[in-house]
Amino acid sequence: MNGLAPHLRLGVNIDHVATVRNARGGTHPDPVRAALLARAAGADGITAHLREDRRHITDTDILRLTAEINLPLNLEMAATGEMLGIALKHRPHAVCLVPEKRAERTTEGGLDAAGQHATLKPFIAKLSDAGIRVSLFIAADPRQLEAASALQAPVVELHTGGYCDALLAADRAAELERIQKAAAQAASLGLECHAGHGLSFETVGPIAAIPSVRELNIGHFLVGEAIFTGLAGAIKRMRAEIDKARAKFAVAPSDGAK
Ligand code: PXP
Repeated sequence: MNGLAPHLRLGVNIDHVATVRNARGGTHPDPVRAALLARAAGADGITAHLREDRRHITDTDILRLTAEINLPLNLEMAATGEMLGIALKHRPHAVCLVPEKRAERTTEGGLDAAGQHATLKPFIAKLSDAGIRVSLFIAADPRQLEAASALQAPVVELHTGGYCDALLAADRAAELERIQKAAAQAASLGLECHAGHGLSFETVGPIAAIPSVRELNIGHFLVGEAIFTGLAGAIKRMRAEIDKARAKFAVAPSDGAK
């Protein structure tokens, strides 16, 4: 690409700091402390997923994250009445709507934006009317992108799990191509494009090199790597890997959180 590629924001997902805390039911390690440290290490935003079963992040965490961190909070949640009430009460900077199944270990697939148009449309409108930026976590599938556009969601986050989990180089290349095409389609539809799930030092580069991608949300790998190098070190290295991938473009100055 010639010209400027926009600054690529790094959202640090702190869910699994809470997972470790909850293993003992106490207060340590504190996800808010992790968020403050992530900010000092170069995170542009903090992401947290409030699940129906509260397996990691809790309601108190969301209350504290909105009050105590001086960074945009991206609240991941399912499109349920309960979560809508919580989002409207706490007014995070952004909400990312994700599909949620109780029995899954992590968010397995993308949201069926195409199949749930009727329920998602008023849901998104209520969040948007409250000034909350809405993104839809979807598979890199042309149908889902069209549906996101029809729903007037300003942002899509492309699921990178299949790309990261692919064992064969050919499969990973095919998944990457799907994501590249979806990112281009998002840009042509006027949707801001984010990406995330399963990203690591090894897999982040080709995703960060997609010029229209504006934000990456990364959690599990960073929290795992923190065991070996500390959270600040892991975030700084991730930032460096992103910047290396982006270096082939002239990058526009940071325009802050969108
Ligand atoms: N983006 C979304 C929408 C997610 O649900 C998750 C997982 O909570 C992530 C990004 C981050 O994935 P990971 O923890 O694998 O980096």
